[in-house]
Amino acid sequence: MKDQLQTEMGESVEKVSILVLHGPNLNLLGRREPDTYGHMTLMEIDDRLQALAAQLGAELQIIQSNSEGALIDALHAAMDHAGAPADGVLINPGGYTHTSVALRDAIAGIGLPAVEVHLSNVHAREEFRHKSLIAPVCVGQISGFGWRSYALGLQGLLDTIADSKSTGVRPSP
Ligand code: DQA
Repeated sequence: MKDQLQTEMGESVEKVSILVLHGPNLNLLGRREPDTYGHMTLMEIDDRLQALAAQLGAELQIIQSNSEGALIDALHAAMDHAGAPADGVLINPGGYTHTSVALRDAIAGIGLPAVEVHLSNVHAREEFRHKSLIAPVCVGQISGFGWRSYALGLQGLLDTIADSKSTGVRPSP
């Protein structure tokens, strides 16, 4: 059963559950190309995200992997998170953004709303980073705000999920 959240009216509602996926090389944040990716470590980003999620009534499962298969397995597992599907996915696919048909197919296949985030502005960098294979199967992409890309992405994803719960209309794509 999903964790419950107590509303101001004393009602008990289910917390929104989000899978946060960090792709390859993001475990090196803080030490990796700091001029491009900043000085914050992945653990510091995760702590900030957990604090934001707690304020917004969401619970996060956070996974980092350098392996494409492990990221795909985590996406498949999100279809059956705590006995029910997770509500959405926040993903920084790292270099797989620009190469992985398999990751794109996994996101499309699980049918959960996903938001793609990048620390750097991929559109202002080398041309091979301008193309994302992942973005077309996501509800949106946030790029270029450092660690805040994750915070903005989480906020957007939670708003999208809330809209979809209140209207009954599934987020597209
Ligand atoms: C990145 C951008 C990608 O192009 C790169 O391969 C990364 C990090 C970012 O967060 O800015 O590993 O996803």
